[in-house]
Parts: sequence; C-alpha cells; structure tokens
Amino acid sequence: MYTLEKANQYIEQNKSKVVPEFRLKYHAMPDIGWMNDPNGLVYYKNRYHVFFQHYPYDSVWGAMHWGHLVSDDLVIFRSLPVALAPDQEDETGCFSGGAIVDPEDPDLLYLFYTKHYEKHGIIRETQGLAISRDGIRFEKRNHPVIGVKDLPEHASITDFRDPNPFYHNGYYYVFIGSKNHSNDGQFLIYRSKDLNHFEYHDTIRHPKYFGTMAECPDFSMIDGQGVFLYSAINLQKQRLRFRNINSSLYIIGDFDLERKTYAFHTIDEIDKGHHFYAPQTLVDGRGRTIMIAWMDMWGQPYVTHELGHYWSGALTFPRELMVKGGILYQYPVEEIKNYYGMKIAIQDGVILPKQVDLFLMKTAEPFSIVFSNILDENDAFTIQYDGSYVWFDGEKIKLYPLSQRSTTYCYEEVSLRILLDTSSVEIFVNEGREAITSRVYLRCDGYRLQVRGNVQGEAMVLNV
Ligand code: FRU
Repeated sequence: MYTLEKANQYIEQNKSKVVPEFRLKYHAMPDIGWMNDPNGLVYYKNRYHVFFQHYPYDSVWGAMHWGHLVSDDLVIFRSLPVALAPDQEDETGCFSGGAIVDPEDPDLLYLFYTKHYEKHGIIRETQGLAISRDGIRFEKRNHPVIGVKDLPEHASITDFRDPNPFYHNGYYYVFIGSKNHSNDGQFLIYRSKDLNHFEYHDTIRHPKYFGTMAECPDFSMIDGQGVFLYSAINLQKQRLRFRNINSSLYIIGDFDLERKTYAFHTIDEIDKGHHFYAPQTLVDGRGRTIMIAWMDMWGQPYVTHELGHYWSGALTFPRELMVKGGILYQYPVEEIKNYYGMKIAIQDGVILPKQVDLFLMKTAEPFSIVFSNILDENDAFTIQYDGSYVWFDGEKIKLYPLSQRSTTYCYEEVSLRILLDTSSVEIFVNEGREAITSRVYLRCDGYRLQVRGNVQGEAMVLNV
C-alpha cells in the first residue's frame, strides 16, 4: 500500500544514500529514486512549481507518485513533500498531467493527472483531479473527472493519458494523449465550464507525425500563435528521419479551439539530442512561456541506476520559448546570469570546471572542441561545426558512449551557447534556433579543451 506519509518518510530516511558523483548542480533532480516526466508546471503564488513522475523507492520506474519541487528563480529548486501517491483502489499509478490556477481564485490550484490502473492483465486509464489551496497538500476528487464512458468510439481505453488543461474564453480545455484502434497516435480534447462536467470536444490527428501513441500534450499561445508540444512513440512507423524513435515535437499553427480548426504550419523535433522527452510549459508572472523536459529517454541505459547511485533522471534547464519567423526558439532563462562567477577564455589546452555557461561567438569557419576528462584524454566528447551542421559526438565517452547527433538545418554561420553541468550538455545554436541535449558521464571534476579552428569564446563559471 502506497501513501504520501510512507513516501515522504522513506525519502527523509534514505536520501543520504544517494551517491553524489553525477548529481547535477543546477538542474532539477529527485532527492532519491526515479524521475521521469515533469508534470503540472505552474507559476503559483509567485513561485515556480514543478511536479514530476517519481518512484522514490528505487532508481527504476515503478508505481508512479508525483514528486514536487519549487523554485524562486528557475535555477535552484528545492523539494517539497510528495504531492500525489497512488491509492490502490482505482489507481496503481498517478501518471503525468498538467496544472492550472483557477482564473477566478488565484489561491486554488488544480492538478490533472492520469489514474493508471493495471492489475491481472487489465489496464485502464482515466483522468483524475486534485485540488490545493496552499500548493503543498492536494486533495484528490474521489471519481475520475473524465472516465471510460467519456471516450469517443475511435479511442483506445488502455492508452488515454497525460491530461493538460488550457483555459480559454470561459472554458477549461483539456488535451489528452490517445491512440485509435489501428495504433495511430491522436489527441482528444475535452472541455468544461466548471471542472465538474467535461464533454468530449474534438480529436486532433496527423497522418504522419503522431507515432503509434501520442502523449504528453501541452498547448500555449506565444505571440498570437498556437504552440503545441507533444511526445510520440515509435515515429519510425512512418519512416521519418527524426533523430529519436520516440521523440518530442512541436507544432506551430492556428488553433481555433472553439471552431475546431487546426492549421499546422511548422512541425519539427524540439531537441536533436539523446535525452529530451515529455516537455511541458508554464507562463510566469512576466508573461514568459517556459519549457522544461525530462533530460533522459525511454529505452536508454540509466547510468546512475546501473552504478547503484540510488537515483536516476533529471530535468532540462528551463528554456524560454519564442516564435520567430514561424520557428520555435528555445533559450536558457536569463536568471542563470545571477550565478556567474569567474570568466575563462576558450583556448586550446584550457581546463574548465563541469558547471559552466559557455558562449562561442558567431563564425562561418569550421571548428571543433574536444572536452576530455582531465584524468584521461581518451575519455571525451566533441562539439563541432563543419561549415554546415553543428555536431555533438559522444562516441568516445568511456562509461556510456553516445552516437553522433547533428542539427537538422544547415547554417552558413553559427554562434553556440553550451550549458554544462556535472553529467549533462545542452547546446543552443544561433540563439536557440535548434538545441541538442544529452547526458554525459565522464568520471572527473573538469574538462581539458582541445580547440581546433578559429573560434572565440568564453565560459562563465557557475557558482551553484
Ligand atoms: C511519458 C509517459 C507518460 C506517462 C508517464 C508514466 O514519458 O509514458 O505518457 O503518463 O510517462 O510515467
């Protein structure tokens, strides 16, 4: 039997077991145990709340709880008590979902989540609601707010998850991941005026880009454009040339939710790296739309689990989203500047600590930078611009080698921004036009750089 009390007590009593070696210094992580998707991203009572898929008892996926983190500045997160635990009756896991603050009463916070039920070979997914007035204790509604009886005929009853609300013109619209009976991903939209009665509204489909199951929807409006983020399983079904088989994509388009018309203008993978999945957004007090994703991926080795470090999973550094020329741009939030310490010029042979914010100035000339383990130069990864594409190459990382990844687009000139933390690299090309995010596990405290080509830059050491 899982309860919140049991989870919180377990975390308190065991978190000192966590091995620090690959713990990140300015990325969100669980205190102990497993983390996957960020959930319920919300700006509530002047603070940033991030919930997440959590199994505290082991560093592998298990009965899903909602862990809870809070931050004043999006850089340093601290843990709050676990927010949701599965209650055996009609849910064996509290799967992903979104949050919304009551538009009329800013003290009221609602969490939508999936009540996942799986016993004796029977799987059901229905949608639950939990309510809070303090952002710490959440009371679950007894019954699903959207259940099996609310499903349209063309939807699977076993894969129906990740409700995410969006408030518009007096209605709560809830987007939910789904698939049809021929294994084509789709999203169902429900709507409600009062959060008590939900009615099925419409289905969003795409012949190519929704994989065999479409999950983790997130809808926002940025500069008057609809921005729809989602994750799709098995995109290879359609032989698309994406970097990941399961991947997170964005659609920019005209979404008229009331008239049920959706004109898709741009679709692309959000991040071209190995470890980026299930992103969500929030809109903060300054009107910024901020995205955070799970900085890991299904079907990959979970290194800190395999090493017996008692934890697994982290979140990306928060990125501000912008739409420019019909393209989604993503760039690290500016609050990171408050943590800048010493500045180090980028040049051949220089040694960097593992936590830096690195800037490479605009250039049209090819270059490469090898980041090698200061204790072993054969343990390394490389970031390169070949005059057309930007590459990340992790094939020489000894503990957990990674295949090469490149940008999708070709660039006549590039500037790069690279966020490094203990076991992660996030590369932003031309002010966030494309991003490459991967986890890198090198057993050392710093990197020695080998710089080839004519590239200028500096690394800001982060005091975190
Ligand atoms: C995506 C996902 C969600 C689900 C959750 C379960 O990573 O599969 O669809 O709600 O993880 O942990």
